[in-house]
Amino acid sequence: MDTTPMIDIKDLSVTFNRGRKPVKAVNGVSLRVRPGEVVALLGESGSGKSVTMRSLLRLHPAGTTVDGSMTVDGRDVMKLSKKELGNLRGPIVSMIFQEPRLALDPVYTLGRQIEEAIMRHAKVSRAEAAARAFALFEKVRIPSPERRLRNYPHEMSGGMLQRSMIAMALACNPKVLLADEPTTALDATVQIQILLLIRELQKEYGLSVIFVTHDIGVAAEVADRIAIMYAGRIVEEGMVSDIIERPKHPYTKGLLGARVELAHGRDRLITIPGAPPDLADMPPGCAFAPRCPQASDPCRSRVPDLVRQAGDGQVACLQYS
Ligand SMILES: Nc1ncnc2c1ncn2[C@@H]1O[C@H](COP(=O)(O)OP(=O)(O)O)[C@@H](O)[C@H]1O
Ligand SMILES: [Mg+2]
Repeated sequence: MDTTPMIDIKDLSVTFNRGRKPVKAVNGVSLRVRPGEVVALLGESGSGKSVTMRSLLRLHPAGTTVDGSMTVDGRDVMKLSKKELGNLRGPIVSMIFQEPRLALDPVYTLGRQIEEAIMRHAKVSRAEAAARAFALFEKVRIPSPERRLRNYPHEMSGGMLQRSMIAMALACNPKVLLADEPTTALDATVQIQILLLIRELQKEYGLSVIFVTHDIGVAAEVADRIAIMYAGRIVEEGMVSDIIERPKHPYTKGLLGARVELAHGRDRLITIPGAPPDLADMPPGCAFAPRCPQASDPCRSRVPDLVRQAGDGQVACLQYS
């Protein structure tokens, strides 16, 4: 088996310098994705998931400090020229977002936009691009593809629009799909359909996927492995079955507990009291300590390292180091 990772993020830190105090949104994240593997990046809002994804395509605003290294399909992302970066986005890495409406142009039909995406990277005629767009719409199971390709984004439902985005993401035959909460804005039944579609296409094309979500149930549904992020760091990582059946980090246990509570119709906020820390003013020790039911004094002064556990997983908690 090929063990060279498709994505290899090493010690990534991202700091935004625009405000009054620097904001360290990502703080020493390492993450590997093997070819054909689906990794869920899980965490509450503001934990640095999207910033991590955008780093892989170097999509940060000017003045952002990025440290560490990232390779995608053997390419050193930090060293790519503007032109090489253009050849990374699309043919190697595609990204889909929570809000497809923001990623699409309201003044062009969906067919036109997919054709343009195809023609940007492949030397094909408009007619050929149109035929491929049709095939892609069939692939993502949009009913009446010919008619739908002539629609503008506002004429589509949320679910159909997300299918269009997936078609667009596949337009250049990427090796990597970065999916940033692509089902969060959809209602539950549509969400499941989109998850199944992504999983099916992932298998068919052998895609490597990072699937960002705040929902541990969605992560378990879609991924092979789960990496849990808190306040810019990965606090636990492992195979889905290990994370779900034997969570180690108190935060992971909290996320699982929150789902159970939700199933019983109670407020999920009861389970993990408090809020994530201010990234511009981090506590000195473990970032989760202020909310952790098991925190002791050393937790409040020492940042725990991510330590490999028996088996495959890693945990950053003093209880396990
Ligand atoms: N361009 C930016 N400038 C300043 N702060 C940012 C920027 N982008 C993201 N952040 C901050 O970084 C933190 C992590 O954001 P993000 O990665 O979007 O979280 P999420 O896990 O919800 O995707 C948040 O506190 C957010 O406000
Ligand atoms: Mg996000």
